[in-house]
Amino acid sequence: MENLKEAIAQLKREKNAVVLGHYYQRDEIQEIADFVGDSLALAQWAARTEADIIVMCGVHFMGETAKILCPDKKVLVPDSLAGCSLADSCPADRFSQFIKEHPGHTVISYVNTTAAVKALTDVVVTSTNARQIVESFPKDEKIIFGPDRNLGNYINTVTGRRMLVWDGACSVHEQFSVEKLAEIKRAHPGAVVLAHPECKGEVLKLADVVGSTAALLKQAVAHPEKTYIVATEAGILYEMRKRCPSTTFIPAPPLDGSPCNLCKDMRLNTLEKLYACLRDESPEIQVDPAIAARAVLPIRRMLEISERLGL
Ligand code: 13P
Ligand code: SF4
Repeated sequence: MENLKEAIAQLKREKNAVVLGHYYQRDEIQEIADFVGDSLALAQWAARTEADIIVMCGVHFMGETAKILCPDKKVLVPDSLAGCSLADSCPADRFSQFIKEHPGHTVISYVNTTAAVKALTDVVVTSTNARQIVESFPKDEKIIFGPDRNLGNYINTVTGRRMLVWDGACSVHEQFSVEKLAEIKRAHPGAVVLAHPECKGEVLKLADVVGSTAALLKQAVAHPEKTYIVATEAGILYEMRKRCPSTTFIPAPPLDGSPCNLCKDMRLNTLEKLYACLRDESPEIQVDPAIAARAVLPIRRMLEISERLGL
């Protein structure tokens, strides 16, 4: 393992490559990544890096977003099969039809979408900035929000908006068990429940704090004296425990009886595959230039609004 880490470090130096990792990556990948963050931070980092090669340790749409922002760079993902059930729940042809059936709407899409869906979008959002970006539009703006019904319905609830929400979901976050979460809450009175907005509404109702992985981490770092029950992919616990070594973090369990909830796609990336992809400069992310030319606009718009909002 140490040899592998040293070999990756050497290849990075030789090839002027940067390794970016999402908080849901395996611990050992988070440990050696040059930067670890949530979806927004990864896009922001990709947009400003001067590296020649970006290795995106995340899922395919994250690699696509980096490639769209940096068309002249080589963008690699360690495992080309690392997809996203949420992105898959919104095929571009059906989303396009939905938009046609509801003319006069501004289209806001979560970053967990294919490049083709982004190309149909007016502004992209992530879970860190979705609420603020929706609220930056006039109260009576007609909005289509896709693809995550849980995030969309949550924003409708907290803002009083009536966005038309696409019926998609993340199969990982939908797996949290409301009953088991309520049970853990009873067993740990006073524990703070942190939940990602991709969770079902019943889970979010039990949460004290709802936010992106970065927002949930920020909450824990601000109050390390509390105990936390964490309802999001359990990879985030690596950074939480690193930043708050004395804090108790309890992963909320999924319905299938596993001790914690893991995204199988995120976990396809391994150190071995990271090494091989840097060595072979493959698998490389490619985006159709015509699609990229349209998709870059709502992504840039998101980055501009986020910068203005200080996110
Ligand atoms: P964030 O990185 O915005 O918290 O989103 C979580 C997620 O599901 C990424 O796939
Ligand atoms: Fe997609 Fe869900 Fe995995 Fe995130 S956790 S990459 S939304 S399947």
